[in-house]
Amino acid sequence: MSPWEIRRKKAGESHNGFGLYLNPDEQAGWGEREIMAEDTITKVTVPALKAKKECGQKITALTAYDFPSARVVDEAGVDLILVGDSLGMVVLGYENTVPVTMEEMLHHTRAVTRAVRRALVVGDMPYFSFHLSRDETVRNASRFLKEGGAAAVKVEGASAKRLKLIEAMVEAEIPVLGHVGLTPQSIHHLGRFKVRGKCREEARQILDGALNLERAGVFAVVLECIPQELAREVTKRLRVPTIGIGAGPHCNGQILVFHDLTGFTTGYLPKFVKKYLDLHELLGGAVRDYARDVRSGAFPEEAHSFHLPAAESKALPSWLRLRKRRP
Ligand code: KIV
Repeated sequence: MSPWEIRRKKAGESHNGFGLYLNPDEQAGWGEREIMAEDTITKVTVPALKAKKECGQKITALTAYDFPSARVVDEAGVDLILVGDSLGMVVLGYENTVPVTMEEMLHHTRAVTRAVRRALVVGDMPYFSFHLSRDETVRNASRFLKEGGAAAVKVEGASAKRLKLIEAMVEAEIPVLGHVGLTPQSIHHLGRFKVRGKCREEARQILDGALNLERAGVFAVVLECIPQELAREVTKRLRVPTIGIGAGPHCNGQILVFHDLTGFTTGYLPKFVKKYLDLHELLGGAVRDYARDVRSGAFPEEAHSFHLPAAESKALPSWLRLRKRRP
């Protein structure tokens, strides 16, 4: 059941989506719609996510990178929204996530947090925003909370140095989501995106990494692209929740990339993606119809056009003659 309590607008009342009610004179273009009773919304918090694991309830998570998609995801009742650095690939058209900058991440995090009322928003720390000094790492992480409005950050990897930095962030009251298995920021190290943890050494490394992240204070761990048997063991051994992407059904929650799930992404899709919609095709159809209507003159119709009142319409030729010619 959706956590949103929906009620019908009262006669003459409208809602602009920002907590403001509009009187009928200000409503041009909004029309009849259902609105959300904001006072009934309970924000998802870090302790609430941990409690879900204890109660055996699955955590739902998805990425979002802009206002309208974040609104859709939040209204659907998803618990956690990650402003992932995958935005570099699915929104900005980079070949991988390495070029994504702090400024790009903050720009998109702000767009998402402006839309979200319920979900916990996590900002993904981009490559090289947590690789130098402890102070710089904590300062970058704090920007996601102070400037981006996020409630937490995500950091890839679990090396000894990374764990120290995570401890420093947690010490600075910044909730951290860990990430082990396939870590896309290591693409140049790994050579290509592939399932991790299929041999003894890697499986042990992933389990140890997840346990060390828990010790360092993360509130949950993303397990990306690992065999489900390994994900089950990691999930059993951790007290904090695991959130899987390509890690099978035994994780405490699941996350996917919004553009993959909705079919907005074109081309190659990883095996672990379930495509629920062909948005690229749907949008393409709408845009083709629009272009056809413009070419044929079928758009705009009377309903999309404005008129002058009759008297002003009559006066228009004289108005226009009175206009001064430009020098
Ligand atoms: O950047 C991202 O979207 C991620 C995921 C876990 C999907 O890191």
